[in-house]
Amino acid sequence: MISPQDFFPAIAPWVAQLDDTFPGAQIKPYFAQWEVLHILSLALLGGASILLNLRLIGSGLTDESPSVVRRGVLPWLNVGVIGVIATGVLIGTSNPERLYTSEAFTAKMLGLAAALFLTYGVSLPAAKAEGQLSRGAGLAAAVGLGLFGVALGVFAVAKLANPGLWHVIIAAALIVLFVTKGVTRIVYLVGLLGLIATQFALHHAIYKPDDYAHLDPANKVLIVVYLAWILAIAAIQIVRSGRGCEGGGPAVKALAYAAILVWVTTAAAGRWIAFA
Ligand code: HEM
Repeated sequence: MISPQDFFPAIAPWVAQLDDTFPGAQIKPYFAQWEVLHILSLALLGGASILLNLRLIGSGLTDESPSVVRRGVLPWLNVGVIGVIATGVLIGTSNPERLYTSEAFTAKMLGLAAALFLTYGVSLPAAKAEGQLSRGAGLAAAVGLGLFGVALGVFAVAKLANPGLWHVIIAAALIVLFVTKGVTRIVYLVGLLGLIATQFALHHAIYKPDDYAHLDPANKVLIVVYLAWILAIAAIQIVRSGRGCEGGGPAVKALAYAAILVWVTTAAAGRWIAFA
């Protein structure tokens, strides 16, 4: 009950004819080629967003100030965002009923809205001001985080698509691994490997791989434990490196993590449209 058709039942006839009219009918024979452009745009915007937000977190291109990194990545970010939306709309018109009936697509559009708020309303202005958050950025952060929360909630209950949330958890785990240093990084990695080993044992030794009655609840508990571990170490990194450091305090760093993960969530929901 959370696909676009549940919210907009009146537009069903319009959606049904989209792939018979311009531009859907013309795009349809070349769907794969247009989808490649969709993914290339995603790679561009993803790379730009990661460089920008890692700098705010205090990692990556730390030889440059946040405003210099922002100036360097902005054109690529803009091309990527415009490209992914334009190609998305075009492939969407050539396969419209798949999106209209997809719960993952609802999560994806909410994620996209959140990503635009967190990127253009928070990360870019904060980088321009060398890590300072203006009042306007605070407002954009509240709206962006609210939408991000709703997107995650929709993704979590989207039937057959919700395993796609593992992409978001893995991305968060890898960012924290990249950003942490020294002993914290080693302790964190050992904890992660322990969790992975536990999960492997649950799936292959303790329960049979198709014993869903036991594996479903076990996986849900594991997700919570993974999240708690990743968030706890991220919080330590944020507080430690945020104190009095040029490039942004703890709030900016936490928002920069969110600004990367919101794009990952949007992309993961996009990929899982196909599986649901
Ligand atoms: C208005 C915006 C967008 C529209 C209408 C749109 C539409 C689509 C459509 C129709 C598909 C193919 C689904 C299928 O048949 O399986 C798709 C796939 C995908 N989209 Fe989008 N998209 C949009 C924005 C985005 C954004 C912003 C991202 C990334 C942050 C994204 C990432 C993806 C990914 C990763 C796939 C899966 C490609 C594959 O491996 O098959 N999309 N999108």
